[in-house]
Amino acid sequence: AQAAREKSKTLADFMKEAADYYTAQLRATPKAVEYLRARAISGETAARFGLGYSPEGWHALEEVFKEKYSAPALLEAGLVNEKNGRRYDAFRDRLMFPILNPKGQVIGFGARTLKGDEQPKYLNSPETPIYHKGSELYGLFEGRDAVHEKGRAIVCEGYMDVIQLSQAGFPESVAALGTSITPEHVKRLFKLTDRVYFSFDGDGAGRKAARRALEAALPVLTDTQQACFVLLPPEHDPDSLIKAKGPEAYERELENALTLSAFMKKLLLEGKELMYAEERAKLVAEAKPWILSMQAAPVLRLALVKEIAAMARLQPEDVERQYGLASSPTP
Ligand code: UTP
Ligand code: MN
Ligand code: MN
Ligand code: MN
Ligand code: MN
Repeated sequence: AQAAREKSKTLADFMKEAADYYTAQLRATPKAVEYLRARAISGETAARFGLGYSPEGWHALEEVFKEKYSAPALLEAGLVNEKNGRRYDAFRDRLMFPILNPKGQVIGFGARTLKGDEQPKYLNSPETPIYHKGSELYGLFEGRDAVHEKGRAIVCEGYMDVIQLSQAGFPESVAALGTSITPEHVKRLFKLTDRVYFSFDGDGAGRKAARRALEAALPVLTDTQQACFVLLPPEHDPDSLIKAKGPEAYERELENALTLSAFMKKLLLEGKELMYAEERAKLVAEAKPWILSMQAAPVLRLALVKEIAAMARLQPEDVERQYGLASSPTP
């Protein structure tokens, strides 16, 4: 345990040293500053999120870490890679987004290319003993107070979405880190607020992410909590919508968000011809795992069973029995 603590401390120290270096490099690199300007990110916002720049070349971090450049922890931290026994910087010529844990310690990085849509567009730190993607949320340390004050959290897909939203007056924004939303993420957010908006990209990938977020929310949600789904136009993500139409347009999107029950019904109805009994049966079958997972929201579950029964033109008791939810009759 002592050794594990030492290792975590070393990893966190290395991350912090790298983050400070990247921040200093950003100030010294006009093309990186220009990139942020082009994306309408102010210096103040960049400072709030500790944005940085990783220089070109293969060994810039040697300047920072000196003899520690060969330390095992630097490799484990994902700050360097190794090939044929030789090390080189993992992040080169990229805009750096430090990822903070709830204590404000740097635990990882996202790194965007400055070259348009060069692939991969983003590089991300690997999982380490201090960085668990399934539970950490980008922007949560920076946005935590705002979540409390506003009584809501906004979950989006990308680093730039969080930053642009924050700058536009929605500092209660967070993002999952290149992974799907997990029940653990949702649990963490519902500890801070009773209202969570999922606001992913309007494209097909974003819609799929919204469906997965619904599935992550269902087992966690209680009857006093609300999950909402913002469905943006296909050509936009929160960042681009705000840049194109302004913060008021985004606020309207929040107002028009679907409730969890409305979003679930929309997904169930999509592509179905309910005049056919087969399609109605399919609807009941598709809803089953969702309904069964709603262990923490018994009343909402009951209400949804009734709505599913109505859509399928069945009695609620029939659906409950199909789902194995019917309370056994008292003898
Ligand atoms: P997007 O492709 O929607 O990127 O991926 P974006 O956030 O809108 O980025 P910009 O506006 O072009 O800069 C959404 C998120 O998916 C992860 C990142 O976390 C990104 O923010 N992602 C995307 C990766 O991890 N790697 C990639 O190559 C692309
Ligand atoms: Mn993990
Ligand atoms: Mn996308
Ligand atoms: Mn996007
Ligand atoms: Mn974007």
